[in-house]
Amino acid sequence: MTLRPASVADLDAIMSLERASFPGDAWSDAMMREELGSPHGWYVVDEEAGRLVGYGGLRAVRGATDADIQTIALAPEVRGRGRGRTLLRALLAEAAQRGVDDVFLEVRADNPVAQALYLSEGFLEVGRRPRYYQPDDVDAIVMKLDLRGRAALEPSAADAGACT
Ligand SMILES: CC(C)(COP(=O)(O)OP(=O)(O)OC[C@H]1O[C@@H](n2cnc3c(N)ncnc32)[C@H](O)[C@@H]1OP(=O)(O)O)[C@@H](O)C(=O)NCCC(=O)NCCS
Repeated sequence: MTLRPASVADLDAIMSLERASFPGDAWSDAMMREELGSPHGWYVVDEEAGRLVGYGGLRAVRGATDADIQTIALAPEVRGRGRGRTLLRALLAEAAQRGVDDVFLEVRADNPVAQALYLSEGFLEVGRRPRYYQPDDVDAIVMKLDLRGRAALEPSAADAGACT
């Protein structure tokens, strides 16, 4: 897998994965374009043989001590081979570089695969937003990672997913 920072030029390929991965609650083109162009964001894409097969995004306002994992998605045919973990670690490495202490995310209560990934990276459930995902009526689980504490325990963990 090859990771590289995303740009607005990746919008169409990202949106086609976005719509396939999140039917019903995909972001709009306009929202994603804004994310990709934001100085507070950092998006990374995963390519295989020149084809975009995954992406992930972080929102970390400069100077703030917390950040959010905005999204992670992979094409169905490349899931389950460790790429999601590598993407997540790349986002966490960028958050660490920006001096972030805590990383937050929201995940659908009916998405056990993503929850397992986040739990295995040290995220803990800190709350629920009932019926947050509409029209599916599914709760959002809010998770938090103590990034600073994690780095102190495992100095190399945050670097493991750094972009190549
Ligand atoms: C969630 C997603 C990003 C994970 O990426 P992935 O490459 O498939 O996952 P990985 O291979 O890196 O596996 C990481 C962990 O996820 C969990 N996992 C992965 N596939 C799983 C499966 N089929 N069943 C249960 N758990 C699974 C495991 O805990 C795994 O760790 P392990 O391999 O040590 O057991 C990917 O499946 C995806 O794009 N899903 C659709 C979009 C989505 O739900 N995004 C998250 C929104 S919050």
